[in-house]
Order: sequence, then structure tokens, then C-alpha cells
Amino acid sequence: MIKVNVKDCLCFAGEQSRKEYIAKALDAFDVLASEKGAGNDFLGWKALPTDTPEELIAGCEAVRDLWKAKGVELVVVVGIGGSYLGARCAIEALSSSFAKQLPSPNGYPEVVFAGNNLSEEYLAELFDLIALKNTACIVISKSGTTTEPAVAFRLVKEYIDKNYSDSSERIVAITDAKRGALKTLSTQEGYRTFVVPDNVGGRFSVLTPVGLLPIAVAGFDIRAMLQGAAEMQKTLCVKGEDNPAIQYAAARNLMYSECGKKVEIMVTYNPKLQYLGEWWKQLYGESEGKDGKGIFPASVTNTADLHSMGQFIQEGERILMETVINVEKANRSVVIGSDPQNLDQLNFLAGKHVEHCGAMAQLGTKLAHLDGGVPQMEVSIERINEYNLGSLFYFFEFACGVSAYLLGVNPFNQPGVEAYKKNMFALLEKPGYEEATKAIKERLGK
Ligand code: PA5
Repeated sequence: MIKVNVKDCLCFAGEQSRKEYIAKALDAFDVLASEKGAGNDFLGWKALPTDTPEELIAGCEAVRDLWKAKGVELVVVVGIGGSYLGARCAIEALSSSFAKQLPSPNGYPEVVFAGNNLSEEYLAELFDLIALKNTACIVISKSGTTTEPAVAFRLVKEYIDKNYSDSSERIVAITDAKRGALKTLSTQEGYRTFVVPDNVGGRFSVLTPVGLLPIAVAGFDIRAMLQGAAEMQKTLCVKGEDNPAIQYAAARNLMYSECGKKVEIMVTYNPKLQYLGEWWKQLYGESEGKDGKGIFPASVTNTADLHSMGQFIQEGERILMETVINVEKANRSVVIGSDPQNLDQLNFLAGKHVEHCGAMAQLGTKLAHLDGGVPQMEVSIERINEYNLGSLFYFFEFACGVSAYLLGVNPFNQPGVEAYKKNMFALLEKPGYEEATKAIKERLGK
């Protein structure tokens, strides 16, 4: 279960403002709970933890078991944005930091990601790897038409078709129930498919097959993840000042609107959590950054980034607030030894856990940043595991809904994402974009 502490944030504002923003967050909670707010046709994520059918969970596990039985060593997950960030976050958080260099524990395949860029070099290098491994693919696209994953999947499919006689058993598609090119192709090729529900947007889809299937295939416990999310769902549906989502939404909006804190940095102290920051940035950036408003979400991984971004956070423009992901206990133990020569002068740490040094670095940083005018929010979990990640996913999703309604924007659309696509299609001379191609060429003086 997670704990949220916003007291080192609220001390930057007066009691009156705190009360005002808690009241605003309670109103925003009502909008989310009543399901009458903007974008209310995209609220399917709210019930996922408790409503996910056994059949779906068992279906994900069946793919995991089939591929394990086939000796699959590498699974390429093709997707972009909400169609890959949640799975990547969970798999990286739960895997060894050196998983790529170590033999797979329990024989589950390595999961790699493609379709989240248009780098020719990345794809060429992916095929160097695929050529060495027994490979399968999960292709994820709700719309079925997104260019980046479509390009990567065309190439991966071609390779699998050419090199495996059981190719239709090595590709699983996650897409819309009825519409889109990927759905049509899957029906034609006989791929097993899973559905991205109509009422769940990409960035809220980690607890649908979009996240669950890759996480299960990598050998992790999706049942525990859903249980953690379900526990959080139970806690967050109770309206009140103590509701952690209300506290978080109120504190960050108060800092943004009244204290000039325009940027929120998610801070982690374990490199495995880097993609929690990436997932969270999409969730909050796409949900809130619209209509000329929104807190800019950024992330750092400490202590590494204290040696690069630390100077700015401590003394640069005072527009920052931080949300620290506090992991109370490490899953593994390493104790610092004593050295007879003590040339490095570290014997004062002999017998101490590295985690103790990490905790002191974290506390020292928090105090320094408070002194530097950076409000601190803290979201704590006991340790990194499937259950707690499920809780974190649900907490941040729910709090995002409350926070965006408080800010006065529709949390569930993303009209701005289309702008680059229109230009890209015009430049690529996609059929149907002739007028736009002409206009963009004129603009570029060609
Ligand atoms: O949150 C979103 O909706 C987006 O980030 C999408 O997830 C992303 O653009 C991928 O879309 P699709 O799954 O349709 O390929």
C-alpha cells in the first residue's frame, strides 16, 4: 500500500490556501466519481482492478506458457506512448538491473521494445538481436494506424513470417475490438488478439492487456499487480481530506497556481524506476498539458542526476516542485566492508548497508531542496514488487483524473498529439495529404 506525504509542500503556502485547494480537489473528486465530467466516455480504467475477468488474466498467462514451451527467448513488444510505457515501467522495475547480461531466471524470455521511434539504426540493431534469438512479438496499437509501431511491425512480421513455420502463433495483437488495420490483419492472419477497451485511453491502459500481457510474458505476477491496484481502488473511492489522491492533486495544483511552481519533477532513487518517471510524464503531460495550462512533468534518477541536474534544482529558476518515490526497503542486501588501509576514508561506513547511505542521501537532498525553495511531496511504497506497482499505477491514474478536473481541463483527450503527425504525413507525401504537402513545401521554400 502506498503512503502520500505532502506536508513539506504545504508549508510553502498558508493554511487558508491549503483548505481552498482541498475543497477544490474534493469538488474535482465529485466530477470524477459522478462520471459526468469532460471525457467521461474514457473512464473504463477506473474499474479495471476489480472488473478484469479471470478469462483475460488466464489468457495472458496462456500466451506466456505457450511461448515458454516453444523456447521463446526474445519478445519484441511493438507500441508507442500508452501502448508501451506502462509495460516497460513494470518490466524494468521488476527485472534485475543486469537482466540482459544474466541468464533468464525461470526461463522467461527477454522483452525488448520497438515501434517507439523512427530510428533506422535502432531497427537495424534490433534485427541483429532477433537473428540470434528464438523470437515472438506482441504488437500493440489501439488505433491500429500509428506510424511508428506500424513501420516496426511490418518489418518484424516480415522476419517472423520468413523464418518460422508457426508464425501465426508467434504474433499476438492488442488492438481495438472491431476497427482498424491491425484488427483486420489479425483476423486475416489468425493471430491471437486481446482488446484495448473502447473506454480506456492509451495512457490509462497499463492494467488492460496492453500492460498485463507483456508483463506476464516476462514472467511477472499480474494477479498480484491487479490486487495492489484493487486495494488502491478501494482506498481512493472514499471521499475525504485524507484520500491520498485528493491530497496529491490539491498540493500540486496549489503549488502551481499560487506559488509559481510550473514544473513537477518525479524523483526516484533506484535506476530501475526510471521508466516509472517516463510513464508518469505521459500520463500527466498528455492529461493536463492543454488549453495553455498544465504542470510540466519532468523526472530525475538520483543520486546520478544530483551530479547533473542537482545544481539547477538547488539554485536555478524557482519554478520547481518535486514528487519523490520513496522505497522503504531494498529487495537485496549489500553491506559495506572494512578496509585495513582505509585510503578512501570510508571505514566510518563499515558494516552499514548501501541502502542506509542511499536513505541519508535522500534525506539530505530533501532538506537541501526545501532550503532551496523546492516543495517536496513524497509517495512511499514498502518495496518494489508487483503489488506495489499496481497500487502506484492506480494511484497516479486516479489522482491524475482529480488533478486535471481541478485544473479545469479534460483529462482524457490529447488533441495536440495530432499536430506533428499532420506535418509528418504531409512531408512523407502520404496519399490524401496532397494539399498539406503543397502547403508545407511552400512554407519550407521548396
Ligand atoms: O495516450 C495515448 O492515447 C497515446 O499516447 C497513445 O497511446 C499512442 O499514441 C499510441 O496509440 P495507438 O495505441 O493507437 O497506436
